[in-house]
Amino acid sequence: MLALHEPTIPMVLKPGVDVRRYELRIRELETEILNFRTALVCSFNQLLDLRDLNTGVHSTRLAEWGLRVARDLGVPETCMSDLEMGALLHDIGKIGVPDHILNKPGRLTPEEYEVVKRHPEFGWTVIRNLPGMEQTSLYVLHHHENFDGTGYPARLQGAEIPIGSRIVSVIDAFDAMVSSRPYRDGMPVDEALRRLVEASGTQFDPAVIESFVSIAKTEMPSVLAAVGSSS
Ligand SMILES: [Fe+2]
Ligand SMILES: [Fe+2]
Repeated sequence: MLALHEPTIPMVLKPGVDVRRYELRIRELETEILNFRTALVCSFNQLLDLRDLNTGVHSTRLAEWGLRVARDLGVPETCMSDLEMGALLHDIGKIGVPDHILNKPGRLTPEEYEVVKRHPEFGWTVIRNLPGMEQTSLYVLHHHENFDGTGYPARLQGAEIPIGSRIVSVIDAFDAMVSSRPYRDGMPVDEALRRLVEASGTQFDPAVIESFVSIAKTEMPSVLAAVGSSS
């Protein structure tokens, strides 16, 4: 972080002052802020892992695939850091869901499901006050909206839903379908992709589905072979 002996950057530079010296210092400070933010996000992610063991790894996979889809869709590079953090922190609000609901192996009651449905809002509350993470907090808040307006918490539809949330939503669903749980085996990749396509335009953004399905079909066999999965 900022050391006391570092030069203070004046609000207005006098003529003849070496601007490059200050440009370098500004770049250093920007890097320090970025590093601090990255460390904070990793710590939050580890914190969530302590509550729910599957979530940390799931979020890391989401961030990797999310960035690939975003680049494929031409999302501006300036949005990538917000998107990565949004994917990593999308379920941070699950910390606010009691253990007996979060870890319940069977079907949730309607009342329990209502509590789970509050996790995007809980996550948004945690992140929104952190400087520079306002956009990330919105990606988290809206990651369970549906493209046709039937999702939660705000029932946004189409382009009203932030692009980061639309991307996270698709990969989140895919990862949940193919991952094994103590009480069920993960679904084969082909079947999971078929279900995503089926929900294109209703639950999911068709452009995101098209991009993710094509990337997954090309790259998933080699990814699965590398981890030794039979899915
Ligand atoms: Fe979620
Ligand atoms: Fe998730």
